[in-house]
Amino acid sequence: MRVYVTAPGKVTLFGEHAVVYGQPAIVASIDKRVHVFAEPRPDGTITIEARDLRVPGVIVTYKEGEVTVETEYGLVLPAISYLNKAVELTSRYLDSRHGVKLVVRSEMPVGAGLGTSAAVAVATIAAYAYSGGYELSRDEIARLGWEVEKAVQGVASPMDTSITTYGGFMKIEYSGEIIERQNLGVNGDLPIVLAYVEREFKTRDMVLMVRDKLSKYPQLYGRIIELIGEVTRAAEKALVRHDLHELGLLMNLNHGLLDSLGVSTRKLNEVVYAARSSGALGAKLTGAGGGGCVIALSQSEKLETVETIMRFLSEFTMKTSLGSEGIKVEIEKSS
Ligand code: MEV
Repeated sequence: MRVYVTAPGKVTLFGEHAVVYGQPAIVASIDKRVHVFAEPRPDGTITIEARDLRVPGVIVTYKEGEVTVETEYGLVLPAISYLNKAVELTSRYLDSRHGVKLVVRSEMPVGAGLGTSAAVAVATIAAYAYSGGYELSRDEIARLGWEVEKAVQGVASPMDTSITTYGGFMKIEYSGEIIERQNLGVNGDLPIVLAYVEREFKTRDMVLMVRDKLSKYPQLYGRIIELIGEVTRAAEKALVRHDLHELGLLMNLNHGLLDSLGVSTRKLNEVVYAARSSGALGAKLTGAGGGGCVIALSQSEKLETVETIMRFLSEFTMKTSLGSEGIKVEIEKSS
């Protein structure tokens, strides 16, 4: 049967990287989604069409009647490896392999730190399973998605795959195989703006770099990780009170700690400082770092100014609402 699956991207408000080591993180789905269409193929082959995975920095050159298009293949290829792994692990889990044509589209740029890889993985898992006539629970989809991220990245927390599966606004923490997901019943209507700067490193590189430092200097980096956990716990309380000033302060603290872990870059820091000096209550990198997105929180009346200033120093900016629905599966039964 033909299947259409969508899954949202996400922003990490607090706790990225530390979540890999058992600290809590606060994360919310955004209103941009990944779309996967799946159609069974009787010849048993698997084809993937991912032309529309939007990559920032596509360069189109017109010269003497010829058009040359250059893309950042370094970013596209990892996205394809999440797709491949998703098909491989799902067919192994179902103990069944069927031919399928998968068409993938994304409303978000790949590799921006907005959880595109997790959304691609989770939507592909569901699309592949349902197109073969199988049903999976959300728990199974999220679990398999996590396996895909671990296989591709080497190390991963279940944060991104959980939020894209369930959606909403959640606190997430895990220990070994036990995952605690708490849907935060808070007002998700936060005045935030995102700005994207060119990604210099992949998620995998950043996660492995932190792991390396932690194993060499556990006393120092371990304490930074613990402090990020403390900031996240305080942020949960501030969110419940909808205390924007305290949330801003905690975002700034979180960014400083991420910078000490070594995952920020000069460009990210420039956008963070520009956002703060134009009136944001707080700003931090969001996601794995090494480039990618900065998230700034502001009072609503200053949001436009903050966005304008951030746009000067970044590739693009966007506003988003938080807490959109998780994975959605639509099945078109053949007659
Ligand atoms: C990446 O979006 C978030 C990290 O914490 C890695 C992970 O949780 O797997 C950096």
